[in-house]
Amino acid sequence: MLSKRMLDALNEQVNAEFYASYLYLSMATYFEERSLNGFAHWMRAQWQEEVEHAMKIYDFINERGGRVTLKGIGDPATEFASPLDCFEKALEHEVKVTGMINNLVDIADEEKDRATHVFLHWFIEEQVEEEAGVNEIIDMLKMVGDKGHAMLMVDRQLAQRGADK
Ligand code: FEO
Repeated sequence: MLSKRMLDALNEQVNAEFYASYLYLSMATYFEERSLNGFAHWMRAQWQEEVEHAMKIYDFINERGGRVTLKGIGDPATEFASPLDCFEKALEHEVKVTGMINNLVDIADEEKDRATHVFLHWFIEEQVEEEAGVNEIIDMLKMVGDKGHAMLMVDRQLAQRGADK
């Protein structure tokens, strides 16, 4: 059984993950408008991953006998100065999510909720991967600068996301 405090915090995380999915989908539209379809593909894959994150917590709340409470999802950013700006904003958001996950672990510990603590391990590892993945792309984009040809090569590389699975 989840405590009320734990349940409320997990419900907030469901909302944050759906917001993240919405943010990545908004970023996909930015790239689609510019015909950078590899970037758009990467963003769409990330959108789906975020929905999976939300649903993982949704299922866990149900398993623990809690009630999922869905709330409104905030407006995501829609304008970005450049592909680099887009990924820097993505990283900013991932760092925020990492902080939220860490906070959930603290709450689980304070509530002596071992099951939730163990459940959150997956998210701790996932956040390390997410931040590293976005950071890698930021490094590439910094090297590329405004060279159009190199940007197309990055686009082609990002189009491969998921192809090895
Ligand atoms: Fe669900 Fe990108 O954190």
